[in-house]
Amino acid sequence: MVIEKIKESRFTPDVFDITTFGTAFADHMLLSWYKDGKWSEPIIKPYGKLDFTPAISVGHYGQGIFEGMKAYKGETGDVYLFRPDKNLERLNKSAERLDMPQIPEEIFMDGLKALIDLDRQWVPSTYGMSLYLRPVMFATEEAITARSSNEYLFAILTAVAPNYYNKPLSVKVADRYSRAANGGVGFAKAAGNYAGSFYPTHLAREEGYDQVIWTDDATHTFIEEAGTMNVFVRINDKLITAPTSERILDGVTRRSMIELAKAEGIDVEVRKVTVEEMHTAHKNGQLKEVFGVGTAVVVNNYVAVGYASERLELEDLPETESYGKILKKKLVDLQMGISEDPFGWRLKV
Ligand code: COI
Repeated sequence: MVIEKIKESRFTPDVFDITTFGTAFADHMLLSWYKDGKWSEPIIKPYGKLDFTPAISVGHYGQGIFEGMKAYKGETGDVYLFRPDKNLERLNKSAERLDMPQIPEEIFMDGLKALIDLDRQWVPSTYGMSLYLRPVMFATEEAITARSSNEYLFAILTAVAPNYYNKPLSVKVADRYSRAANGGVGFAKAAGNYAGSFYPTHLAREEGYDQVIWTDDATHTFIEEAGTMNVFVRINDKLITAPTSERILDGVTRRSMIELAKAEGIDVEVRKVTVEEMHTAHKNGQLKEVFGVGTAVVVNNYVAVGYASERLELEDLPETESYGKILKKKLVDLQMGISEDPFGWRLKV
């Protein structure tokens, strides 16, 4: 596919000094417009503003989905993507559920490669840093009729990615609000899933927590996922994570952590885990760690879990003992081209 490119450079090395995630955008963005049943040839142009009216459909009815990915630069200067096929797969699942058009593989993959190639110097080579890639699709028809839009924009923008959270988090277990329900859009990476989580997260912050661990909407007894992360609970030497479902996002980092843990000989169980099981394990000194994983956050070992009126404090295990920290290093080493890639997850760009 030939992608038209309009180039412009604003790059200076100090862009890598930023400490806030998602605010320093690289030089270019990719755009493709859907109209009359087909996608336009993508174009790459300088990152910047677009022209919309307040009648833009997404602003009223929320047909908006996205993906989170990263490009890494290894010691040799090679740039890698991590399992991009999984993001395309999930984007198209989200699109189907939100009654939006499918993104052709060619636009997604060739677009990503061309964009990264052009903004190669924006990919930091510092260990653990990366260029965050944000493919996004939203409804652009100028219409406030409540129905699926006939027009969409698919865009890929990129932003320098330091640590998403600058500290280990404390998380509050949800006992009133829910992120998703069966038959809903919880498994999709839909913008509205995040919008609905902000108010409960705000309340959790007022109680001294950073994020919410979502539980099942029917009983609030099973641990599902956290704000921007899938959740792993370690009881003694067993690592447990909830199975994906209609309500839980099928995280690429989650899948990868399960496989990395198995390869390390760690006993991993993909099964439902109750808040009470975690609580009892904490009481008995068996709750070794609870951590969240995701593309943006990578791995965050929690320092405390709030459960009803209790705050379960967690020990900060050393690098050599914490499953979260051990697996994080394995993952980042693989992503950055430092270690072998026995799974075939890396794609050189
Ligand atoms: C990611 O981890 O890439 C995500 O999409 C979560 C996002 C809300 C930062």
